[in-house]
Amino acid sequence: MATLSRIGGRALADLLPELRTMPGPVYASLAHAITSLVLDGRIATETRLPSERELATALHMSRATVTSAYDAMRAEGFLASRTGSGSYVTVPPGSRPRNSLVRWTTYTTDAADVIDLSCATLPAPPDIIAEAVADAAGRLTPYLLGDGYEPAGLPVLREAVAARFTQRDAATRPEQILITNGSLHGLDLLLRLLVGPGDRVITELPTYPGALDAVRAKSGRVLPVPMAAAGGWQVDQLRAALRQTAARLAYLTPDYHNPTGALVPEADRREVFKVARQTGTTVVVDESFVDLGFEGTERSSAAVDPSVIVVGSLSKPVWGGLRIGWLRASTDLVHRLAALRTSIDMSGPVLDQVVASILLPDLDTIAAARVVQLRPRRDALVAALADELPSWRTTLPQGGLSLWAELPAPLSTPLTMLAAQVGVVVVPGSRFGVDGTLERFLRLPYALPADRLRDAVHRLAGVWAQLDQGGVASRQLVVA
Ligand SMILES: Cc1ncc(COP(=O)(O)O)c(C=O)c1O
Repeated sequence: MATLSRIGGRALADLLPELRTMPGPVYASLAHAITSLVLDGRIATETRLPSERELATALHMSRATVTSAYDAMRAEGFLASRTGSGSYVTVPPGSRPRNSLVRWTTYTTDAADVIDLSCATLPAPPDIIAEAVADAAGRLTPYLLGDGYEPAGLPVLREAVAARFTQRDAATRPEQILITNGSLHGLDLLLRLLVGPGDRVITELPTYPGALDAVRAKSGRVLPVPMAAAGGWQVDQLRAALRQTAARLAYLTPDYHNPTGALVPEADRREVFKVARQTGTTVVVDESFVDLGFEGTERSSAAVDPSVIVVGSLSKPVWGGLRIGWLRASTDLVHRLAALRTSIDMSGPVLDQVVASILLPDLDTIAAARVVQLRPRRDALVAALADELPSWRTTLPQGGLSLWAELPAPLSTPLTMLAAQVGVVVVPGSRFGVDGTLERFLRLPYALPADRLRDAVHRLAGVWAQLDQGGVASRQLVVA
């Protein structure tokens, strides 16, 4: 099996801190620094490292120093070799998390007042759903005369979704739209159709855990490509991953990415989509959060490149309980996906689709009200973190429902376990990656009212102090 991609000596040198000022031998600092980049998701596992000679030249140090560093990493289980692939970074056996939907794992807490930050999602807006349901009930009679099965979706809703894409600069016919039970359902259908055991699927790192689980459920191989530290894509790395791996599919979330909230500029999208076309990789863009931007939205990715497949839904701007989503692709692909669907769930619910067709023309207004509600919550969360946990670093999300906090030590999992004891339910950073990395990060949704978020941060600060006082924060991470 080939490794994911290769990092050059110069590129690796650019990611490393100043090693000579660190205590202890330089080779140990180098080994530790590269290992930390792997654990923090800055270098994806299975990336081939530069040769010892190349890195030594880039770092202006002796080849023996680099050899010792690589030996130390190998001894700790962070470096391995494969014939024909050179030395590639990895994590020790036993550190890979099991597939699980964290939603269904249990946590124990004696706290009477639980603040649930496990989901980046909002309750339904008041009145809007009830009014649309009443309206839809009045429009139901003609549908009741038919059999109710429309595997591709009700024509009225396919038209409304197509019109919305057309409005956003991506001219779309209703035949190009498949109505799904949410955007994850759309991704799952695509994976079933296009990805077989062992096929490679490029994702961002971090990314939405549901997508990772869906790829693994088809026995696909996830190839995570690290996001830039400041947010957004590392176009060079995505380009390299596409060119070097012959990936079958790339799942990307350029519009207010979950968990970082980043918005990827159009020029970066155009370049990545172009390379994917050259390598024959199907790109699936997840637009789940596209309507929840603080800064105004880029054009739909389908307008940037019509060959890109887009999945989206009403779950984030309106309500997850509706279970209404869509997929935009070629007419032929929509046909094949609708046929596949009949072997799984036959069709979507008629009443809910009528409700969605009533809501869709008002989506801009509904989403704008959401953004007005979310901005002070985001700001309150950022301010509370700056106040109570100043050693945590945050990047201001440009949209979406969560921020991605960087902790000063890789303690996300122990922190979430302690947090549950004081009634704060959070998901550790490692859940948004593969291989047990990203332990230095924590996703914090800001969907709750500002006072609840302040309370949550206050409780988190309390348990963080306990971890810190225990001296754990200064300990080297043991991935287990
Ligand atoms: C990026 C992303 N895609 C898809 C989903 C699933 O959404 P849906 O309810 O539309 O299936 C989520 C839910 O959190 C998400 O964050």
